[in-house]
Amino acid sequence: MKKEPIQIHNRSHPRLRLNTICPYFTMFPLAFPFQTLQRARKTDLVYDPFCGRGTTNFAARLLGLNSYGVDSNPIAQAVAQSKLLYVSEKEIDARCRAVLAEMPDTDLPQGEYWELAYHPETLAEVCKLRKYFMTKTLLDDIDISLRAIILGILHGPKMKTQASYLSNQMPRTFATKPNYSVQYWIKNGLIADKVDLASLVKRKAAYVFNEELPRKVGGQIILGDSRSIADSFDQDIGWVITSPPYFGMSTYEQDQWLRNWFLGGSDQVNYSSASQLKHGSETTFINDLAKVWSNTALKCKPNAKMVIRFGALPSLSVKTPREIIKESLVIADCGWELKALRSAGKPFPAKRQANQFKGQTGTYVEEIDVYATLTI
Ligand SMILES: C[S@@+](CC[C@H](N)C(=O)[O-])C[C@H]1O[C@@H](n2cnc3c(N)ncnc32)[C@H](O)[C@@H]1O
Repeated sequence: MKKEPIQIHNRSHPRLRLNTICPYFTMFPLAFPFQTLQRARKTDLVYDPFCGRGTTNFAARLLGLNSYGVDSNPIAQAVAQSKLLYVSEKEIDARCRAVLAEMPDTDLPQGEYWELAYHPETLAEVCKLRKYFMTKTLLDDIDISLRAIILGILHGPKMKTQASYLSNQMPRTFATKPNYSVQYWIKNGLIADKVDLASLVKRKAAYVFNEELPRKVGGQIILGDSRSIADSFDQDIGWVITSPPYFGMSTYEQDQWLRNWFLGGSDQVNYSSASQLKHGSETTFINDLAKVWSNTALKCKPNAKMVIRFGALPSLSVKTPREIIKESLVIADCGWELKALRSAGKPFPAKRQANQFKGQTGTYVEEIDVYATLTI
């Protein structure tokens, strides 16, 4: 039977649900890489050097294309890895229950924040899973999928009916800082409910890893710095689709500090951002972007296409997004020839970088799409 065409804007369509496994700050809409890749050939390899939650990689999978992704943020890598996998609800459910039954109790993080953020029994289960992922040397597909599910349900709003998140009231896209959270919970008399973690995982697994999800494709998501990452994958990339952070946007890890803790990070907010592009000045930022374009060119075949979605925060940037990208391509001087530069229009569903900054600027920031071809 012929499959109906994908309705790419319908996030809850069974074929697309895996893409929503865990929110990520400043992700771009699935329709952008999906529509761009309509022109790719079946054998083309796809690459995103700033892959975030793996939107480009998931779009490639929908079209049966193998893909690679690099991100320097461990949360991005952990989430994006799951976008290439196919495991069953049963396997995830069994793995989760086995870990909870077999892992010994482990020390819980201490302090008022942790007492209020989770019910103690829920926190004990979260800590068992955390320890399991931290101590296992080689995670298999089931582990990676289970870990991405936990990252997705780790924090979010308290629901009136069935619990969808493990935490006390919190946003789902980013983690509020401890002092603010404690004050908020106390002021509003909010306490964390005991959540049946295994049942919630099972429900989420059935939702995202359903029968309609396209089967696994090839590729890899690598934790690394795309300015310098060595040739650890095929040199035959035909399509690069990416979205660098805006100038000034370097808080990916601290805004996601709770997910970072789950992945083995500190139980306090870590404010360093060493692995991110340098945002000290526009010049250093542009130079860093240039390094990414040069390093990306090394992995591409002649005539590879690169499509970049990019914007800027007017209060921080002197240069326009167009100027920043053009300059970085000139400095890269490695064969990327600018073919077209268009407005990406008004930011549409939430979560795009431009929307993230809306509160600060009061206006939407124009985003652009830049099209380049590798001429050597
Ligand atoms: C705008 S986000 C990409 C979002 C992605 N398009 C998505 O839909 O999820 C930019 C990403 O670049 C990553 N990043 C910043 N500096 C990096 C670097 N030097 N190497 C690799 N990734 C980096 C950030 O961690 C962040 O995930």
